[in-house]
Amino acid sequence: MPVLETKRTVLRPFALADAEDVFAYCKDPRVGPVAGWKPHESLEESREIIRTVFSAPDVFAVTDKDTGRVVGSAGFTAPHREEVCQGSTAEIGYALSPDYWGRGLMAEVVAELLRYGFQDAKMDEIWATHYQENHRSKRVIEKNGFLYAFTESLSDAFYPDRPTCFYFLTREAWEKARRDDWTAT
Ligand SMILES: CC(C)(COP(=O)(O)OP(=O)(O)OC[C@H]1O[C@@H](n2cnc3c(N)ncnc32)[C@H](O)[C@@H]1OP(=O)(O)O)[C@@H](O)C(=O)NCCC(=O)NCCS
Repeated sequence: MPVLETKRTVLRPFALADAEDVFAYCKDPRVGPVAGWKPHESLEESREIIRTVFSAPDVFAVTDKDTGRVVGSAGFTAPHREEVCQGSTAEIGYALSPDYWGRGLMAEVVAELLRYGFQDAKMDEIWATHYQENHRSKRVIEKNGFLYAFTESLSDAFYPDRPTCFYFLTREAWEKARRDDWTAT
């Protein structure tokens, strides 16, 4: 798995030694529930998540360049609605320590994940979802040029039917947006 870089972050594989940093933000009740998972209850639970969920391919630890500490996670999973996807696809997911919210950090990280997904991993289409009430995540998705597709319910650790907004971006649309940006500057 590669190491990726943005202006303010380095994206690298998780290590078990990151457990304390992970527990510090994953125990915060503002983080997991809006994304569908329960806050971590112990350092051991964070270690277990690193061993299982965070060890999947293309799941990155988001580290703060200034401190080297892990401040979030971001990466790709299988799409929730595989049947509507075209070609090689994946779904983007992310969470960030509340200490870092509101500075455009996750939008910056997602922009690099899109570059990695389309250019390096040769994906054809990338999907993103957020629970209807998660306006912060909605903005991260919108700011990265995703197109709204539909709203459907998903089940999670809290609800059997949670209204969820689905978005996608094709490689062609992403390339065109980059060309347009380049022409405009
Ligand atoms: C979603 C999350 C990753 C956003 O990270 P971030 O680095 O703060 O995101 P950004 O700063 O790039 O963008 C956040 C946007 O939400 C907006 N926002 C902040 N508080 C808001 C609120 N209460 N209501 C609506 N929008 C809000 C910000 O203004 C910003 O939009 P703008 O750039 O147009 O002003 C972070 O809030 C998080 O980890 N949340 C918990 C986990 C989660 O929701 N994961 C995603 C599951 S789908």
